[in-house]
Amino acid sequence: MPTHTFPPLVAGNWKMNGLIASLKEVEALKEKLADANPRCDVMLCPPFTLLSRMNKVLGDSGIGLGGQDCHWEPSGAHTGDIAAEMLADIGCTAVIVGHSERRTDHGETDEIVRKKAAAAHRAGLVSIICIGETIDERKAGKTLDVLSTQIAGSLPEGCNAANTVIAYEPVWAIGTGLTPTVEEVAEAHAHIRKELAAQVGGAEEAARVRIQYGGSVKPGNAKELMAVDNVDGALVGGASLTAEDFFGIISAAYL
Ligand code: 13P
Repeated sequence: MPTHTFPPLVAGNWKMNGLIASLKEVEALKEKLADANPRCDVMLCPPFTLLSRMNKVLGDSGIGLGGQDCHWEPSGAHTGDIAAEMLADIGCTAVIVGHSERRTDHGETDEIVRKKAAAAHRAGLVSIICIGETIDERKAGKTLDVLSTQIAGSLPEGCNAANTVIAYEPVWAIGTGLTPTVEEVAEAHAHIRKELAAQVGGAEEAARVRIQYGGSVKPGNAKELMAVDNVDGALVGGASLTAEDFFGIISAAYL
């Protein structure tokens, strides 16, 4: 049985959504969580433009703050990019790397993702490393092979349960309202857990790494998905944008 050194992590990935006015949702979430004591950690990953203001709103609420991406260099001539050190400087404790939207929109390879995760660790941040198969890969029966390749390629040296979270996000489940069956989620997560052993120095450490499920997580399906073996939280897109839905997910699964 895994030793649960770390509670599950429910993180909200706001993607390219949110203006200053959206911080009212964070105020509302704070209020809902104030006396709730969920059995999970909660984090929000807004666009870069809101990090600083959101950090102030979050205050000592215990809700964590994360970035959605970082460059692998600590500084330099990289117009439009953000260093992991900058995220740490502004109050982030984590950063998402290798999201499928970045892999697709920006051509990020496993090697780039690995460099970004290493940068996160260098800056003292937790890396939330995203992996997942496309619908064509699933239909071709290649899901587990794809996950193995992504794990081998996207995790830098020095990964452990304290500095790394894996987010399993089937690309075809993101933003579509489709989700894998609980059997498919169980199969993927068990496989990821097994493959992690080689990356984190053994099965004992791998048992402690949090493996989130992501892709169309909603208040109505969160309980069932989060109850699957080896699922240690969620990476939530659309439903993290409102306090009602995000809290609905947290309360359905972890209250
Ligand atoms: P949705 O929850 O909107 O499907 O997005 C999932 C996701 O990509 C989180 O990173």
